[in-house]
Amino acid sequence: MDGRQLLDWYSQHRRSFPWRTPFPRDPYLVLVAEVMLQQTQASRVAELLPRFLARFPRLEDVAAAGEDQVVAAFAGLGYYRRARLLHRLAQQLVQRGWPQDPHQLRQLPGLGPYTAAAVAAFAFGHLTPPVDGNLARIAARLLALPLSAHSAQLRRQATALFSQMAQSQSTPALFEALMDLGATVCRPVSPLCGQCPLAARCLAFQKGRPEDFPLPKPQRARETPTWLALWLENPAGEVLLRPITEPPLQGLWLPPLERGSGEVETRLRRLLGELGLGGEPKAVGRLSHRITHRLITVLVFRLSVPPQVGENGRNGRWVSVEANVPTSSLAYKIARLVAEAESQRSITYG
Ligand code: ADE
Repeated sequence: MDGRQLLDWYSQHRRSFPWRTPFPRDPYLVLVAEVMLQQTQASRVAELLPRFLARFPRLEDVAAAGEDQVVAAFAGLGYYRRARLLHRLAQQLVQRGWPQDPHQLRQLPGLGPYTAAAVAAFAFGHLTPPVDGNLARIAARLLALPLSAHSAQLRRQATALFSQMAQSQSTPALFEALMDLGATVCRPVSPLCGQCPLAARCLAFQKGRPEDFPLPKPQRARETPTWLALWLENPAGEVLLRPITEPPLQGLWLPPLERGSGEVETRLRRLLGELGLGGEPKAVGRLSHRITHRLITVLVFRLSVPPQVGENGRNGRWVSVEANVPTSSLAYKIARLVAEAESQRSITYG
């Protein structure tokens, strides 16, 4: 594929952005734009990039500034980790100079393969493709590759296809043309194949199923565990919370949980045994809680314990309901269910 039609299309349809100056571009401009474009829409970057460049006109200005000033200049863009990385990167580049090769650029702290290739291409004329989601999707469709958009295999195929295309045209403009084609024509849904300069060579188009490529990201199988939660109250009106040490809630404080499997009664006894308690907890009700791919059913029980049940580091801490401890929304859901059951009881029997 030689890419001539694509460049002709681009000369008529290219989007105009402040970072799209003639090649070769100032590497500092390319770097700042690409770092911003990693997580923020191009139209938003187009608005905010000039403000950043007015505040920090040169790489040296970023390197000499305090990290907080660079972070402040990212206001409105979000993902402030990028600002800290840019600051560190600027200090290193000012000391050692710019590597021009994508492999050497890749060694710099915080530069991924996409950004390294983009700087090498747009600032230094290298023809290694910066494969972003747009380029991956276009390659999957041109070659009808049944691969998912994030697969390393698709990234490799896209790199091979587009580096050959860029070599035949000897310009990194081809990569920008692909980015624009992906954003405006070869869109993830409802692609406009009638307007595509590459449709005649597109295998997905020939099959009449462009949207079937690339394949959707494989979903993690959903887990649907059942947990038991025990709401323990002491006569002072405090509840027992325990620190969770295992994922997915590690570091948070919650009422005692049993997350195993088996019969509910057996599990409840196991939990009471762990806490050194006897007694007959009452069933309060059930709730649903979603954590990433898990849809958890929580069976809630409550038990009032006598004053002599003391505090014990491993077994948790008695806290008043308003206490300020790091917890999960799950703890609030459990508390709400207990409070609702309580008010039902006072309506019924009160
Ligand atoms: N031109 C150069 N890099 C770009 C990007 N990441 N998104 C849109 N247009 C670009």
